[in-house]
Amino acid sequence: MSLSRISVTGVRNLHPVTFSPSPRINILYGANGSGKTSLLEAIHLLGLARSFRSTRLQPVIQYDQPACTVFGQVLLNEGGQSNLGISRDRQGEFQIRIDGQNAKSAAQLAETLPLQLINPDSFRLLEGAPKIRRQFLDWGVFHVEPRFMATWQRLQKALRQRNSWLRHGTLDVASQAAWDRELCLASDEIDVFRRAYIKALKPVFEKTLSELVQLDGLTLSYFRGWDKEKELSTVLASSLHRDQQMGHTQSGPQRADLRLRLGGHNAADILSRGQQKLVVCALRIAQGHLVNQARRGQCIYLVDDLPSELDEHHRSALCRLLEELRCQVFITCVDHELLREGWQAGTPVALFHVEQGDITQTHDHRE
Ligand SMILES: Nc1ncnc2c1ncn2[C@@H]1O[C@H](COP(=O)(O)OP(=O)(O)O)[C@@H](O)[C@H]1O
Ligand SMILES: [Mg+2]
Repeated sequence: MSLSRISVTGVRNLHPVTFSPSPRINILYGANGSGKTSLLEAIHLLGLARSFRSTRLQPVIQYDQPACTVFGQVLLNEGGQSNLGISRDRQGEFQIRIDGQNAKSAAQLAETLPLQLINPDSFRLLEGAPKIRRQFLDWGVFHVEPRFMATWQRLQKALRQRNSWLRHGTLDVASQAAWDRELCLASDEIDVFRRAYIKALKPVFEKTLSELVQLDGLTLSYFRGWDKEKELSTVLASSLHRDQQMGHTQSGPQRADLRLRLGGHNAADILSRGQQKLVVCALRIAQGHLVNQARRGQCIYLVDDLPSELDEHHRSALCRLLEELRCQVFITCVDHELLREGWQAGTPVALFHVEQGDITQTHDHRE
């Protein structure tokens, strides 16, 4: 799938604009502060109903505007198109529209518009808290395993029950035992989905990484959140006292993590920023391949400030891999000369100049 038309109003410094991107490579270039990241933020808003720059949406709304609004026309893989719209006003009122209907949740947007973001903060995937890696993992599982969402909701419900019981002890023992059984069943299912996903991701990740950067021996492994030799029910029973003291459940899929290690070290501790960026790119590109294979759709890549931290060799390796994905890609950079050449003949590349909030197409992919 790809965005064939995008309209943006009231986002950061961007003047109201409607434009038709290329189905493949889009390069947005312009000086610092011109609005390039804001444009990616607008697309991100359309796919996820949130920003990647701030937890709140208030700062995204243009200073003198009552709301920010983004519309997108999506060409679907199976043919046909879908119209998405999202609007958020200063009072916090949200509206998500999909094909003229109000959508119930942002998950519906995510399903129609699977987005992958690569930006200068991406190293956090390696360095940050396990939650970031779990979100990465679950994003992938969500897009390739249709049963994931329902099981994940069951897990959350059972976990909330247990944590509330741990804190307040309001439920009788038999009812709580029933909830714990449900928790263990859902946990095992989530673990099976995640494990299958990582098994499929690993070889694609390793191949992608080897084409990007020489980091022999870097390993990706999955920790499921509890002892791999034991049943979760056994672990829960043995840690009940501690769980009660802490007021929440210490073990289970809510504690899962991905581990990236190199030569006995945590990769985040020894790799340079540039190398970390390449590892994250390989992970995200590998996810894109898996989503493409699952045929539930195709990712759209938002790559903010692609050249930063990368030398020419790695920059072109990354561009080649993004191109080989055959997905729609939005790349921002200051100097488009760095990215203008090197694309294969026949790949539609569109260039847009972003200047003080205005977006002008300077090269049309159809030319
Ligand atoms: N809510 C807002 N309303 C208007 N302008 C904003 C708002 N938030 C940020 N800006 C301005 O938008 C400009 C564009 O920022 P950004 O998209 O990050 O630029 P770039 O990525 O091209 O360097 C900045 O100059 C910033 O000060
Ligand atoms: Mg920027």
